[in-house]
Amino acid sequence: MRFIVCENYDEMSARAADILASQLILKPDSILGLATGTTPIGTYDKLVEMNKAGKIDFSAVKTFNLDEYYPIKADNDQSYRYFMNKYLFDRVNIDKANTHVPNGEAADPDVEGKAYDKMLAEAGGVDVQILGIGRNGHIAFNEPDSYLIAGTHKTALTEDTIEANSRLFNDISEVPHYALTMGMASIMSAKMIVLLANGKGKHDAIAKLLDEKITPDCPASFLKLHPNVVIICDKEAYEG
Ligand code: GLP
Repeated sequence: MRFIVCENYDEMSARAADILASQLILKPDSILGLATGTTPIGTYDKLVEMNKAGKIDFSAVKTFNLDEYYPIKADNDQSYRYFMNKYLFDRVNIDKANTHVPNGEAADPDVEGKAYDKMLAEAGGVDVQILGIGRNGHIAFNEPDSYLIAGTHKTALTEDTIEANSRLFNDISEVPHYALTMGMASIMSAKMIVLLANGKGKHDAIAKLLDEKITPDCPASFLKLHPNVVIICDKEAYEG
């Protein structure tokens, strides 16, 4: 696991965007694993700039997002599909048919989870996976628990995550209590993982990544088992 410690959010975003841009230059038909949350917005902004400047091309790219609230309609402005369209897909030359987000309107979450993993495997697996991290150490919506789940599945959000994510809603009562999320095996099957973290609120989670222990109490700690992980964080997340 490699750590890149940046001065600030802008530098963190630039570093992450550079890695993704290099990936697209070397392999124009890359499969990107994408994340939502406030952390990757700066990275997406930089990718949009590079795309507009003609430096990178999304026309052959496929994407798979980590998670989606459940149940939620795709056109709800709190859905992760809406977020991805707004911050990236509507701003670059990607074919929307090549963008995948778990279906928050699926009738049967078990069927949706299995279908999502199958589609991902058939596409050839993720080349570079962007990850954020919850302040409780969750990745995607794999929450701290006594066990973790391998494949894409429906999960209940913890009180801490509902509280953390409520800042993006009008009221905490509007935050969905469930989500569909890629499981740990789906995430760990990516060829390369780039985890982003900024701000003091992420320090405890980053400290657990620096610690030797691998525990379902901190799902992100399992990234230590992956051979190709880069953590890009700002000083505040690194030093606390
Ligand atoms: C959310 C998402 C995660 C994200 C994390 C951190 O709940 N499910 O994929 O990484 O929480 O979000 P943020 O970047 O807004 O801090």
